[in-house]
Amino acid sequence: MSGIRMRNLIDKLEKERILSKDELVYLLSNFNEEDSQYLFQKARAISQKYFGNRIYIRGLVEFTNYCKNDCLYCGIRKSNRNVERYRLNKDQILNCCRNGYELGFRTFVLQGGEDLKYSVDEMEDIIKTIRDNFPDCAITLSIGERSYDEYKRYFEAGANRYLLRHETANDVHYGMLHPKNMSLHTRKECLYNLKKIGYQVGAGFMVGSPYQTMENIAEDLLFIHELNPQMVGIGPFIPHKDTPFNNFKAGSFELTLFLIGVLRLMIPNLLIPATTALGTINPLGREKGILAGANVVMPNLSPVNVRKKYQLYDNKICTGEEAAECRMCLQKRVEKIGYEIVVDRGDFKPIEELVPC
Ligand code: SAM
Ligand code: FES
Repeated sequence: MSGIRMRNLIDKLEKERILSKDELVYLLSNFNEEDSQYLFQKARAISQKYFGNRIYIRGLVEFTNYCKNDCLYCGIRKSNRNVERYRLNKDQILNCCRNGYELGFRTFVLQGGEDLKYSVDEMEDIIKTIRDNFPDCAITLSIGERSYDEYKRYFEAGANRYLLRHETANDVHYGMLHPKNMSLHTRKECLYNLKKIGYQVGAGFMVGSPYQTMENIAEDLLFIHELNPQMVGIGPFIPHKDTPFNNFKAGSFELTLFLIGVLRLMIPNLLIPATTALGTINPLGREKGILAGANVVMPNLSPVNVRKKYQLYDNKICTGEEAAECRMCLQKRVEKIGYEIVVDRGDFKPIEELVPC
């Protein structure tokens, strides 16, 4: 009986692209392996329709691990005294991009802690220089909460996209994951400001973060429906030994995959990465993420000597390899499951502009 109800809910989600909160909670709490396969088949068919077997790559440059914030889950939070801190200068960042360009990357993601040592002028200069040197590439920023004006200056300097996970759409839960000086209200305001300025925006959350309930995840999905972002990044929470959450267990692999499938049905043209965290909790995590409906992978372009220092969680993969090795390794993995990595900016496109493959 429950099997039929699950299929009906998945069919309804595909048709209407949204479910009620109660329906979402039911779906997320009761799925089994067969339901997952039923969902993934649909999710794959949608990805195939709009993207064929094409997987977009984004080159991640983790340019600073200094952070003024103290998010309780995060390995590079400011109170972690065991982190050896680093910053890349403009030339080092440009070198990563140059290397990435040669390897076929056409999107660079500058990610870091909220490091105020880079002034707005400096950040603007870095973005402008990347823009001038790589006019055919997209520039994505992931540097946390900033003012409207700061976001606007970076956009005008040439940045196109911004990743800022909302982390959880529930106020009380947000308070359990963050220090008192941070709020869901500010985070949402940042996301709406970014959209208003014209960025392609990525929201997202960790699956299985401490104290998270199925209701919370349903709220995350409803918030995503309302925000209507171009990208959504989800990955399992993984504990870091030097954080207050060191004794919590990692989020569920199966639930993370299931949610990738749900997101694909909710927003068919969405850019969904198969994240490094997914590849960390399961050796075939990224491949399975793609088979559940993801269409983006984000290999690392950071210099090898800093990679281990950007340890958001324990046992993070790909911290010993050169960019070229990661790129080739992912290519092989993707090809093995019948997909291909493409040299393309991989911009979000409205559904009317996507010619079905
Ligand atoms: N400072 C920027 C920000 O806050 O958006 C970007 C860097 S932040 C480390 C990037 C993402 O890493 C966060 O949005 C969070 O979801 C994820 N993250 C942090 N700690 C994690 C953990 N222990 N397990 C899984 N993901 C984690
Ligand atoms: Fe700032 Fe994690 S607490 S990046």
